[in-house]
Amino acid sequence: MPALVRAELAFIPSFLEALGEGFSRDNLRPTSPEEIAQIERQPEWFVRIVNNPPRQVVLPDGTLGQRVPATELWYMDGATFLGSVGIRHELNAILESWGGHIGYAVRPSARRQGHASAMLAEALDHVRATLPLSRVMLTVDLDNTASIKVIEKNGGTIRDEVDNPWVEGVRGRRYWIDLR
Ligand SMILES: CC(C)(COP(=O)(O)OP(=O)(O)OC[C@H]1O[C@@H](n2cnc3c(N)ncnc32)[C@H](O)[C@@H]1OP(=O)(O)O)[C@@H](O)C(=O)NCCC(=O)NCCS
Repeated sequence: MPALVRAELAFIPSFLEALGEGFSRDNLRPTSPEEIAQIERQPEWFVRIVNNPPRQVVLPDGTLGQRVPATELWYMDGATFLGSVGIRHELNAILESWGGHIGYAVRPSARRQGHASAMLAEALDHVRATLPLSRVMLTVDLDNTASIKVIEKNGGTIRDEVDNPWVEGVRGRRYWIDLR
């Protein structure tokens, strides 16, 4: 059965295959061929970065922002990479307006098999076990039917509808998931 675990060097070959399919662990932008080449050249460095994220984050508009403490977990079926979840331990003003506590993505070849729903459920258990949060916020574009289903299947209740601040003309929803 797949499980959410920390990234390891042994998972990189399958992770690179997922990138080759167009997977992006960062829903903000696609992984560029230069980034993929760098991961191939320096896999140890990349695993370190995934498990110890830098203090700064490149925002969707290309500017640098301060990263809140965060944990990235990979959804692995043995040595097969299926997807990843990013858990932000707290919200800053930017994440409060859009982004929320949890983001996730499943590799294209593994979609529509229930992995995102199972992965979010496991991520919520991880938050319950490790962080002092009574609820988490998630955001989703209104046209992302799959992700809306994933959030609602995991107990999401609509907080409000807002403009996605990073994509002109796109509306989205902010959800709460109660953890108690
Ligand atoms: C959104 C995403 C994570 C869903 O992953 P997934 O593993 O395919 O999701 P699941 O298999 O758990 O499916 C959840 C539900 O959505 C439905 N679904 C999945 N893909 C769908 C699609 N393209 N169109 C419509 N419904 C879809 C499934 O049938 C399922 O519905 P059900 O519960 O009624 O059976 C995946 O498509 C992805 O990685 N997208 C790109 C990144 C992204 O959008 N992340 C979320 C940002 S908020």
